[in-house]
This record gives sequence, structure tokens and C-alpha cells, in this order.
Amino acid sequence: MKTNFTMLGGLSIEEFLRNYWQKKPLLIRQAFPQFNGLLDRLQLFDLACTEDVQSRLVTQRHGQWQMQDGPFKATKFDSLGKSKWTVLVQGVNEHLPTAAALLKNFSFIPHARLDDLMVSYAPKGGGVGAHFDSYDVFLLQGSGHRRWQISAQQDHTLVEGAPLRILQRFQSEQEWVLAPGDMLYLPPHYAHNGIAESDCMTYSIGFRSPSYQELAEQFLVYLQDRVCFDEMYADPDLRTQRHPSEISTHMLRQVEQIIRQIQWTKHDIANFLGGYLSEPKPHIFFDPPTKPLSCARFEQAIQTGGVAMALKTQILCHNDVVFINGMAHAVGKDAYRELRSFADARKLDSNMSLTRETLELLYLWYIDGYVVPIACKHIDK
Ligand code: SIN
Ligand code: CO
Repeated sequence: MKTNFTMLGGLSIEEFLRNYWQKKPLLIRQAFPQFNGLLDRLQLFDLACTEDVQSRLVTQRHGQWQMQDGPFKATKFDSLGKSKWTVLVQGVNEHLPTAAALLKNFSFIPHARLDDLMVSYAPKGGGVGAHFDSYDVFLLQGSGHRRWQISAQQDHTLVEGAPLRILQRFQSEQEWVLAPGDMLYLPPHYAHNGIAESDCMTYSIGFRSPSYQELAEQFLVYLQDRVCFDEMYADPDLRTQRHPSEISTHMLRQVEQIIRQIQWTKHDIANFLGGYLSEPKPHIFFDPPTKPLSCARFEQAIQTGGVAMALKTQILCHNDVVFINGMAHAVGKDAYRELRSFADARKLDSNMSLTRETLELLYLWYIDGYVVPIACKHIDK
């Protein structure tokens, strides 16, 4: 892997992973030297007013916190007066090609861990209060300046009754003012508080860590569709029992034996994980082409211009299985190699010689709106 990665302040990826990732914060001055943001505040407000975009507005008035979920009316942000406020828009990478391109810089972390790019705007004094997140985050400063205060404190008591998670007793241990292009990495559960020093936009590249509880529950949901027992409970040798209200040991044993037959393999775990982690979030809808190209024209188009994943598409791969937006496709070795390159780079270049299996899958996915020939320029959908 590359060393002296500018965005990691001269650290190699290995050094960053060994010494900082999930361990301790890292401030990187000028991680992205020319960076001043990808959209302006009006474009962000537009997104916050859009139906299939997740957004929140946090306001602080006389020390009281309030939170509202979007989508908002277009005039909402003109009427916020003197309160300190922040608007936060999730999944900007699902809507803006430049945001998806920014995320590619973080591909040294597996795609299975990536959540999304959230962008916030706050006027001077705005912020979401001192809190901690349960995921890793890179806080990249766009336009304006933000003061970040951080603390390794173990006291995670939250303000009771507040509509968002605010730490009751935040004790800043270190603080910096971040300028455009500066970036702060924080591991999970590290307390932080960001206050806009001026009109300020911050880009949060967040990485998900599903809780074991969530994984276990979802795995049971996955298994539920795969257990198959033909027979029914039977007790031809039933005996009388003194207390009819008691569940007999005999019944218990029989059911226990059946339940113990529920088994799973590594293959089930991989299948579950690939499906679960590539599943689109509930608000996501795809845009299938209104006048789809024929299969032959599609193949011609990708030969000429290449093919890209739609911005909302997630592909994960494991052992000759390709998971796209929650669905699994078991493929041959060559198709697997081709589709894995596609998933790594989120695109395939023009003039690639691809197997028939890959071409057929790509066409199916094109019809569903999951992939787009680059020449069609619909990848911003
Ligand atoms: C923000 O952008 O205002 C908040 C980001 C965070 O604290 O995680
Ligand atoms: Co945070």
C-alpha cells in the first residue's frame, strides 16, 4: 500500500491503522489541501428539502435543544432568526457524484465498513452539542472554520429528556480550530463538540459498526426464511399427567431436539452479512431507465464509455458471490474477478473484454437502475 499518504498527514495507511484507527484521535492539517467543500449552503438546503434525503435541523435557544427531521420547506432556513442552529444532511454521496468521488479516498477502509458522507452547515455559534458517536468518523472541514473540542472522558451520561444525545458533563481536553481541508479522525465513543467559528460546513465520513445485538437479531431473521421442517409435533405415546397445566419434560425434550437441528454454515453467515450490509437504507429508491437500451445497445454503450455503479448502489463481494443492494448472485470465477474490480472502483472502464456472465448481470442491474453506462450520464441519479 502507498506510503506518505497526504490525507493521513504523512502517515502510511498501515501506520494509521496500527496506531490510530479505533484507538485514538488524529488531527491532520491540510489533509485535502485545496478542499473548500463540494456544495454551497443553498445546495445543501435544497437537499434538506428533498423527499428521499435524510436531514435534521438542530436548534439551540436559551440553552434548550430542539431537533426536527426533514424534508423541510424551502423557506425554513430563512426564518431561523437568532438561534444557534445546524442542518445535517445524510448520504450526500448518494446524490452528488463529487461526494461519491471524495469517499473513494477512504477506500483503504473496506466498503463493508463505510456508512456515508454527512454534510452539515451551521452559522457562527451553531453546533450539535457535546456528544459521542458509536462509529469512526473523519471530520473534514469544508468552507469556514469550526472549533473542535475533544475528550477521552469515560463519563457518557446524557442530558435527560433532550431530543438528541448531549453529554451532561463534557470536559474538553484538547481543542483546535479547523480550516478548510483540515481533518480530524475520531474513534468510536470519543466525546467531541464542534462549534462553528463562522459560516461553516463540515463533511463527516462515517463508518458503521453494527452492534452484535443487531447482527444476531438480523441473522435470526435471515435464518427464519431458511429453516424447513416438514413434520409436526406428535405424541402418539402420550401419558396422563397429574397437572395438565404443566409442560411435560417429554414435550420439552422433543422440541429441544428439533430446535437443535437448526444449523448454519460459514456460507450462511457470509450470505447473511453480504445481503445485510449491502441492503439499501429504507429511504433509498432506484431510478430504472425510462427508455432502457436493448441488451446489444447497452453492451455497445459500455464498450464505448464504460459502466458505473449508480450512486445509491452498494456492492460487496465474497467467495464468488456478489451482493448488490441486498441481493446475492453466485457467479463463475472470471465474472467474480470482473465484478469485484467493478465494485472496488465503482466503475469499469471502456473497451474491457468482459465475460458473457458479467455482461448479462450488468444488463439486469441496468434495467433495475443499479448501474449506468457512463456515456448515459445518469450516474448522478
Ligand atoms: C456536525 O457536522 O456539526 C456534527 C458532526 C459530528 O459531530 O459528528
Ligand atoms: Co459526532
